[in-house]
Amino acid sequence: MSEQNKWWLWRVLSTIVFLLLGVLASATVAQAQDNCRQCHGDVSSRIESSVHSFLSCTSCHTGITGYPHPEGASLDKKESVATCTSCHKGLVTDSYARSFHGKAVHLGSQKSASCADCHGAHDIFGQDNPHSKVAKGNIPETCASCHGEASPGFSEGEEHFELKPAGAGAPMYYTGKFFIWLTLIIITALVIHIELQLYHNLRTIRRERKRR
Ligand code: HEC
Ligand code: HEC
Ligand code: HEC
Ligand code: HEC
Ligand code: HEC
Repeated sequence: MSEQNKWWLWRVLSTIVFLLLGVLASATVAQAQDNCRQCHGDVSSRIESSVHSFLSCTSCHTGITGYPHPEGASLDKKESVATCTSCHKGLVTDSYARSFHGKAVHLGSQKSASCADCHGAHDIFGQDNPHSKVAKGNIPETCASCHGEASPGFSEGEEHFELKPAGAGAPMYYTGKFFIWLTLIIITALVIHIELQLYHNLRTIRRERKRR
């Protein structure tokens, strides 16, 4: 066999191996999906029509492999958030961590909003999709599930914003700056006040020693 023929044979063989591995991998995802589908058919079909159609159930429910399910298989809010942030990083994650909701959930609140409370767990879509829980028209209803009667104004703010001097984050940015400067000025004034008081006390002591 010539060198060139050997090279071709090698290429054909490796392509076949790669193809087989690919088929095997997608079959595993499909099989895992099937395992859960037997009993959770409704959830399966919701995932399949969502933006996460390529995910298997166990990408998020890492602790569950079969039935019966292990103790504590349900995700509490903190675990639920950790699931989303294992893939979604950057602006959405950072702004959530800064938010009221994010801080409360981090401290263990089971009442405040996790990612899934606003976006759904299985029926997640991009904001442009009218089925999305965070589509402009659906936001008041989404917030109202916890905030009583949420006015249409709820859909006017931006949920995930950057802390910078322009755009949706500007009010928070300047409020933050204001409090940092306020704190610095108060602490400086306090230190000066204490120093002056000490100086005054020292002078009084010295004067009294001289008098004696
Ligand atoms: C034989 C049926 C069956 C299969 C298969 C099955 N489940 Fe379940 N699952 C149930 C039942 C019933 C419940 C209700 C709570 C319980 O019994 O644990 C449940 C509850 C759950 C819960 C909620 C946990 C809770 O405690 O509320 C999750 C999450 C879940 N299943 C995920 C999965 C995943 C992921 C798979 C595939 C790996 C799967 N299930 C396969 C029957 C099944
Ligand atoms: C993108 C991540 C993600 C994927 C993929 C996912 N789940 Fe879930 N699932 C969650 C989260 C988060 C919760 C908790 C819901 C909450 O906090 O309200 C949940 C809750 C559940 C529950 C509890 C009952 C309920 O509906 O709230 C079941 C049952 C369940 N999942 C089954 C499945 C099955 C079966 C699949 C695969 C077809 C699947 N999940 C895929 C994130 C996911
Ligand atoms: C209080 C409700 C709320 C919470 C909590 C929340 N989001 Fe959002 N999310 C929104 C809204 C509303 C939008 C639409 C754009 C905006 O307002 O910033 C959005 C937009 C997004 C987008 C972009 C969607 C698109 O179509 O461009 C992603 C991705 C996202 N969120 C992921 C997350 C993740 C991950 C978490 C948790 C770490 C989270 N969100 C927590 C309400 C929320
Ligand atoms: C295994 C990784 C993974 C996990 C876990 C995951 N996502 Fe995603 N998510 C993605 C990818 C990748 C996309 C982009 C899909 C696309 O554009 O077609 C996406 C898309 C989205 C979108 C739509 C963004 C847009 O611009 O249209 C939202 C909203 C979202 N995810 C929220 C969540 C939430 C909430 C959770 C937790 C319940 C979560 N994701 C868990 C990988 C993940
Ligand atoms: C799962 C429940 C839940 C959902 C959904 C939810 N929130 Fe909240 N939110 C809370 C809780 C709990 C607090 C903590 C403060 C409190 O109890 O008033 C809070 C606090 C807040 C705060 C700051 C404190 C305050 O009372 O002014 C704002 C602003 C807010 N939410 C806006 C929203 C918006 C906008 C949405 C919809 C995009 C939303 N929330 C969805 C539960 C939720």
